[in-house]
Amino acid sequence: MKLHIGIIRGDGIGPEIVAEAVKVLEIIGTVFGHELQYEELLLGGASIDAYGIPLTEETVHCAKQCDALLMGSIGGNAKTSPWYKLEPSKRPEAGLLGIRKALNLFANLRPAVLYGELKEACPLKEEITAGGFDLMIMRELTGGLYFGARATQMEDGELTAHDTLTYHAYEIRRIAHRAFEVAQKRRKKVTSVDKANVLDSSRLWRNIVEEVAVAYPDVTLEHMLVDNCAMQLVKDPKQFDVILTENMFGDILSDEASMITGSIGMLASASLNETKFGLYEPSGGSAPDIAGKGIANPIATILSAALMLRFSFDLDREAAAIEHAVERVLQKGYRTIDIMSEGKEQVSTRKMGDLICDEISQIRQQSFE
Ligand code: IPM
Ligand code: MG
Repeated sequence: MKLHIGIIRGDGIGPEIVAEAVKVLEIIGTVFGHELQYEELLLGGASIDAYGIPLTEETVHCAKQCDALLMGSIGGNAKTSPWYKLEPSKRPEAGLLGIRKALNLFANLRPAVLYGELKEACPLKEEITAGGFDLMIMRELTGGLYFGARATQMEDGELTAHDTLTYHAYEIRRIAHRAFEVAQKRRKKVTSVDKANVLDSSRLWRNIVEEVAVAYPDVTLEHMLVDNCAMQLVKDPKQFDVILTENMFGDILSDEASMITGSIGMLASASLNETKFGLYEPSGGSAPDIAGKGIANPIATILSAALMLRFSFDLDREAAAIEHAVERVLQKGYRTIDIMSEGKEQVSTRKMGDLICDEISQIRQQSFE
């Protein structure tokens, strides 16, 4: 199969972790006989440095020609980077929001899984996490506060700022359908999270989700207020299967959910539109403090490449080969510094990528024997 992939290396640790994921994709291409063709795209700080703006029309145009995008991370240190002296609409994050909107990537899937091998890294008490947890946050990504009108102005001699939270029924409906479809392939439960005791947009959210739920009688739907959900995530994460929520709540809850796994460097994510196209990226940020040191964990990006093979190309076997290779490397005791624990062997970003590639090549040898 021919795979045409846009590569957004991005900022901070982005280039280092993407390099390892590309290495893994190359091995997959060799082992399973696929031809990979890459398009390098600039976004965020890297695009500001080259063109003065975080997202160019050329990047959007090239991205649309690709079958899928693999991204590292966007953004820098807000205190020290010159990018943050620019007005907000020209900063790195605006590029990310711009590409999400331009490609209509409304469905953001953010899994939070407690890996058995990495139990020690989980900050929750063992009595809470015994038996593990495996939840999926489905975050609406192209509406709400992130894209509503905003401004800062003087009012009666006082600086005043506003942001607006708008949702159209169709935006809620399409992400709700996705969430129920995802739940059907999992444990068949959707928790829709809102603030319906205060916000009109949440009351509409709740009504539309209820309407959509009728088409999925095999899936249980419950509603939860966002403040309660933040609490329940640390109190009893096992209760969740799919959490469906709007853009801003999803941003906050997905960081919380990834933190309680203790291994944000392990979590992949996918942002999808109505077609097979998607943007795949690690859940963690650009970590400018460790950029260039060769110590970042590339596993989340490598697992994002696996998600890409599965969702955008229907290459389940290839995706499973990557996931299996990651598991084997962890079982053998190799760790990057963020997931390091006593008695394990600490390795660099590059070494971790090499080890995963070796495991995948061994699959080839085994299948030839
Ligand atoms: C994320 C990030 C972005 C967001 C930032 C970088 C704009 O926090 O993907 O969660 O808020 O969506
Ligand atoms: Mg975030």
